[in-house]
Amino acid sequence: MEWPRHIPTLTDGVITLRALEPSDIDDVLETAADPASEAFTTVPSPYTRQDAVEFVETNAAKVWPGFEVAITDSDDRLVGTCGLRIRDEDSGVTEVGYMVAPRARGQGIATRATRLLVDYSWTIGAARVALDAFAGNAASRAVALRCGFVEEGTLRSAHLGNGDIRHDVVVHGILRTDTDPPTTAG
Ligand SMILES: CC(C)(COP(=O)(O)OP(=O)(O)OC[C@H]1O[C@@H](n2cnc3c(N)ncnc32)[C@H](O)[C@@H]1OP(=O)(O)O)[C@@H](O)C(=O)NCCC(=O)NCCS
Repeated sequence: MEWPRHIPTLTDGVITLRALEPSDIDDVLETAADPASEAFTTVPSPYTRQDAVEFVETNAAKVWPGFEVAITDSDDRLVGTCGLRIRDEDSGVTEVGYMVAPRARGQGIATRATRLLVDYSWTIGAARVALDAFAGNAASRAVALRCGFVEEGTLRSAHLGNGDIRHDVVVHGILRTDTDPPTTAG
């Protein structure tokens, strides 16, 4: 894989993925300090404004071993965040993750962002993209299937989440050879 040296800007004409900026902090806070985000991701809980400040400062320019970016609407307002990480460099495997602001859910934003990151993964030479979701996270599992990922199995009690709750983890994968033409074309 040819991992980027700078955070890429990606768009499908409706949403844009771009580097995080200090002006995003309040919207990052709104996105992460939410019961679903705290239940279904690894964000700190309770999530504070200082957590949002540190998230933006840490990730504004970081690309290795992965990057976190803002998902923005046509007004350049943050409607979520998503990330692409190296899962296994030698094997060409990346991993996607995402979180959408409560006010913007149910509009296909996570689906669009995931498709952009999957197609980007192919451009940098990845052969497989992985997506893990807690078994109880129906919305995230729906996003994975909508983007063409295959549900490949369940790791029982594999993650200790916020609130000391154990989660089964459903693993999904999509292969470069699964998507022809690219997912954003359809
Ligand atoms: C998961 C999440 C990112 C989805 O974002 P979104 O932009 O609303 O997702 P989309 O609109 O692209 O797609 C949501 C899909 O889930 C479905 N969905 C939503 N709630 C659902 C539920 N309770 N049961 C079943 N399906 C559900 C929607 O119908 C839609 O699928 P469809 O278009 O095939 O009908 C958002 O709910 C979120 O931020 N949750 C908290 C953080 C999180 O869970 N991150 C993922 C960790 S793996």
